[in-house]
Amino acid sequence: MCRTTNLLLTLISISIFPFFTNGALQPQHQHAHGGGCNPDERATLLSFKKGITSNDANILTSWQGQDCCRWRGVSCSNRTGHVIKLHLRNPNVALDTYGEYDVCGGASALFGEISPSLLSLKHLEHMDLSMNCLLGTNSQIPHLLGSMGNLRYLNLSGIPFTGRVPPHLGNLSKLQYLDLGQDGDYSDMYSTDITWLTKLAFLKFLGMSGVNLSGIVDWPQTLNMIPPLRVIDLSYCLLDSANQSLAHLNLTKLEKLDLSYNDFEHSLASGWFWKATSLKYLDLGQNSLFGQFPDMLGNMTYLQVLDISQNWNGDMMMTGNLKNL
Ligand SMILES: *[C@@H]1O[C@H](CO)[C@@H](O)[C@H](O)[C@H]1NC(C)=O
Ligand SMILES: *[C@@H]1O[C@H](CO)[C@@H](O)[C@H](O)[C@H]1NC(C)=O
Ligand SMILES: *[C@@H]1O[C@H](CO)[C@@H](O)[C@H](O)[C@H]1NC(C)=O
Ligand SMILES: *[C@@H]1O[C@H](CO)[C@@H](O)[C@H](O)[C@H]1NC(C)=O
Ligand SMILES: *[C@@H]1O[C@H](CO)[C@@H](O)[C@H](O)[C@H]1NC(C)=O
Ligand SMILES: *[C@@H]1O[C@H](CO)[C@@H](O)[C@H](O)[C@H]1NC(C)=O
Ligand SMILES: *[C@@H]1O[C@H](CO)[C@@H](O)[C@H](O)[C@H]1NC(C)=O
Repeated sequence: MCRTTNLLLTLISISIFPFFTNGALQPQHQHAHGGGCNPDERATLLSFKKGITSNDANILTSWQGQDCCRWRGVSCSNRTGHVIKLHLRNPNVALDTYGEYDVCGGASALFGEISPSLLSLKHLEHMDLSMNCLLGTNSQIPHLLGSMGNLRYLNLSGIPFTGRVPPHLGNLSKLQYLDLGQDGDYSDMYSTDITWLTKLAFLKFLGMSGVNLSGIVDWPQTLNMIPPLRVIDLSYCLLDSANQSLAHLNLTKLEKLDLSYNDFEHSLASGWFWKATSLKYLDLGQNSLFGQFPDMLGNMTYLQVLDISQNWNGDMMMTGNLKNL
């Protein structure tokens, strides 16, 4: 009886434990290696803190004392003690008078620069600086980020950068999540060549909403060379067309595709995406697509959400097989 209770308690604590330790801003502080953070990594974090010029939200006030693994937004490996995660997402983004995000207009954001000193965090796997005003002096994505070769997750979404998206990000060969999205708006970021993305062989999530990709003709072919992709958000990218033909679709895991607000202006049926029968979510809104639905729509049996608003469709759709829609 007593032994059963003990076992039960052990099982319960094992299953509950991760929920307390993996919380977004909770420090992970149970290293098997003896505790305390690496002094070099601590110095690096303090030097990053120096690059933050305004901090009304006091997010970084906990950044003092010896053990940087206890600082807010910092997580260390429980095995090696190295800093592996930096989660400094701003959860309280300000809105402008039109109700749009105004990342640099609110007091809760971090202001300043993404200090190049971060490169010293060699073990960093996860970096989320989203929704902060970390524009530095030239307002561009620092190409040095391409040297943080251990990153699996990089979220810079909402930071209103301008200029070219650095192809150096293609050096992040372990990356699984890349979010540069500007959430529902056009931005002053652009790229004229996205072939560097094909070097990201493990990429599951690609968010480039708002990045001007005008003139890039072969974007579907490029994405088709990254088979692990599950989510693609290329809304507001000024893409010219989506009627490229793909001989073979490698994107067999694709679940979510957002191509809204691109103004393709060609026939709906000629879209390459109808081959992606694994899709659960397809947003084609605001694209001036015209004509009939292709028969292939009937094979998209996993589809739960289909947005075709603001296009010129001349016929009714047959949704007979689409039992999840
Ligand atoms: C330690 O980290 C590993 C990998 O991140 C994880 O699987 C494991 O559950 C962690 N152990 C504890 C006690 O948190
Ligand atoms: C990136 O951050 C934004 C805003 O903080 C969030 O909405 C989005 O889901 C994140 N992206 C990923 C891939 O987690
Ligand atoms: C990173 O990528 C850029 C452009 O793709 C390249 O010129 C550079 O040599 C790469 N740097 C490293 C350290 O691999
Ligand atoms: C988008 O980029 C193209 C060329 O890359 C440029 O001609 C065009 O002006 C840009 N559009 C906007 C709205 O910035
Ligand atoms: C994806 O499919 C194309 C054919 O459309 C093929 O040439 C290419 O090698 C495939 N790429 C990968 C990474 O599987
Ligand atoms: C694709 O659509 C564009 C218009 O966006 C059109 O100019 C072009 O001829 C179309 N190409 C094919 C192969 O249908
Ligand atoms: C739908 O799928 C079936 C079975 O895989 C296939 O025979 C048929 O050709 C597909 N229809 C279209 C329009 O691709």
